[in-house]
Amino acid sequence: MAETIPDLRRVPKPRAYSELIGHTEAILDGVDDVVTAMSTVASLVHHAFGHLWTGFYRVVVPGQLLRVGPYQGTLGCIDIAFGQGVCGTAAAEMRTVVVADVEKFPGHITCDSRSKSEIVVPVLDKKGDLLAIFDVDSERLNTFDNDDQQGLERLMSWFAATA
Ligand code: SME
Repeated sequence: MAETIPDLRRVPKPRAYSELIGHTEAILDGVDDVVTAMSTVASLVHHAFGHLWTGFYRVVVPGQLLRVGPYQGTLGCIDIAFGQGVCGTAAAEMRTVVVADVEKFPGHITCDSRSKSEIVVPVLDKKGDLLAIFDVDSERLNTFDNDDQQGLERLMSWFAATA
């Protein structure tokens, strides 16, 4: 199987996410391995949109600690506590956080100084427990909006149906 990754950088976002979600679901058909799914999703989103950093922080101590991986991009911080930075805030509050300018987010954790804006989406399992958070960072200010939130939340619903 030689799957390709679509280039969605110039496609209007609602259509881009529909295409990406269809593509992802086709590739993950029959997959029940969460690490395989996370790796595949990180690769697809990262390369389809040309992001700076794209990946998961998994819950390793429920309510307390996130740990990096799988991801695409430069080195991510290894551990993030619930409540810390954008990722820890999304985990603690179980909600998507969109940051237009990371310098204006108190406590933002800088793993790569090129990161200017980001979106972080909670990933739930079948039981509704927090499995991970999905973090996407951009080199440009104000990259993410409601279309990204809706598209990525739909993409992450694969885990709630499967994991
Ligand atoms: N931006 C995140 C830290 C993780 S990295 O950017 C890979 C945050 O403030 O939570």
